[in-house]
Amino acid sequence: MKIIIIVAKALNNVIGKDNQLIWRLSADLQLFKSHTTGHHIIMGRKTYESVGKPVPNRTSIVITNNHDFKVPEGHLVVHSLEEAIQFCIGKKLDKVFIIGGAEIYRQALPIADELMVTEVNAMPEGDVFFPEIDQSEWKMVSTTSYLKDEKNEYDFDFVVYKNVRP
Ligand SMILES: NC(=O)c1ccc[n+]([C@@H]2O[C@H](COP(=O)([O-])OP(=O)(O)OC[C@H]3O[C@@H](n4cnc5c(N)ncnc54)[C@H](OP(=O)(O)O)[C@@H]3O)[C@@H](O)[C@H]2O)c1
Repeated sequence: MKIIIIVAKALNNVIGKDNQLIWRLSADLQLFKSHTTGHHIIMGRKTYESVGKPVPNRTSIVITNNHDFKVPEGHLVVHSLEEAIQFCIGKKLDKVFIIGGAEIYRQALPIADELMVTEVNAMPEGDVFFPEIDQSEWKMVSTTSYLKDEKNEYDFDFVVYKNVRP
């Protein structure tokens, strides 16, 4: 099963502030939708709460230490990243997406196979960061550029990296 991290990060690795996203990038939301629709998505409790409900047409797996945490039927609460991954392996999924936030990205990076990174051409202030991508472990396999317009606040590149760790 392929473990794919999908993230939008700024040049300074900022990914959010005050438990919110910090840019308006319609084309990036479309990319997120087209890649993840129909799949299982794993996220931290804070990211789940920042959206407020499951993202439609995807199965949400929410990681929390809270054993009373509830999600709507058809979605799942687990208590570690390992438990989330084991559940997906048990389901014989061909891929799963890790959709954040910072705490979950940090734990998932060492076991991920692929990164789909929206590299936003901005240097915003923020309070959560994506870890530095170690170029000796990750090989860029494609990059597509998008220019800012009335629906996209900043230029960005959509970059796919494959893991090349030994
Ligand atoms: N730009 C992007 O692509 C992107 C994507 C996603 C999120 N974000 C941003 O990232 C921010 C949220 O990130 P965050 O790091 O603060 O929070 P997070 O990773 O979404 O969630 C953290 C929570 O997950 C639970 N958790 C994490 N590891 C766990 C483990 N091993 N076992 C059990 N529970 C675990 C804990 O929940 P409990 O406290 O309930 O125990 C923890 O408080 C927001 O600003 C959001 O907008 C950005």
